[in-house]
Amino acid sequence: MRIIRVAGYEEMSSRAADVIAAQLILDPRSVLGLATGTTPVGAYRLLVEKNRRGEIDFSQVRTYNLDEYRGLSHDDSQSYHYFMADNLFKHVNIDMANTHVPDGSDPDAESACRAYDAMVEEAGYPDLQLLGIGNNGHIGFNEPAEGFPVGTHCVDLTPSTIQANSRLFDDPDDVPRQAYTMGVGTIMKSRRVLVLASGAAKADAVRAMCYGPVVPSCPASALQLHPDCIVIADEAALARCPEE
Ligand code: F6R
Repeated sequence: MRIIRVAGYEEMSSRAADVIAAQLILDPRSVLGLATGTTPVGAYRLLVEKNRRGEIDFSQVRTYNLDEYRGLSHDDSQSYHYFMADNLFKHVNIDMANTHVPDGSDPDAESACRAYDAMVEEAGYPDLQLLGIGNNGHIGFNEPAEGFPVGTHCVDLTPSTIQANSRLFDDPDDVPRQAYTMGVGTIMKSRRVLVLASGAAKADAVRAMCYGPVVPSCPASALQLHPDCIVIADEAALARCPEE
């Protein structure tokens, strides 16, 4: 794991956008694994600007998002599909047919998850997987558990995740209780992983991810075993980590 310490959210976003841009410059046909949430929004904004300036080209890029709420259709404004269109896809020259998010509207969890696994496998897995981290150490929606899930599966969101995500809903009761998420096994198959973390609320999770034991009670700790994992985190998120 390589840890890049930055001052704050803006610098984290700028470094992250540079890493993603470098990936697209080196391989314009890249497969990107993407995340939603507050953390990557700044990096997405900078990627839009780079695309507008002609510095990066999304025309041949394929994307696979980590997760989607179960029960929300693609055009629901709270869905992760909608979030991605709003924050990135509709502002860059990507072919929407090349963007993929698990189908939350499919009530058949088994078939939705198997279909998504097949798509990600056929794409050859992400060249670069972007991740945020939950306050409880989750990645994607792989919540603390007894084991590391391998493929895409349906999860019951924990009370702490429902609480953390309720800020994005008008009514906390509207937060879906389940989601479809790529497994830790799939995330580990990406050739490079880029984890972003900002803010004091992430400090315990970041310490557990980088310096704790590799245990499924902190799903992000599995990334210690990834051969090419970069963590870009700010001072507040690294506050409980040793200064190297
Ligand atoms: C989102 C995702 C989640 C978030 C995590 C952090 O697609 O997979 O693991 O990355 O919940 O969320 P934020 O960035 O909102 O703190």
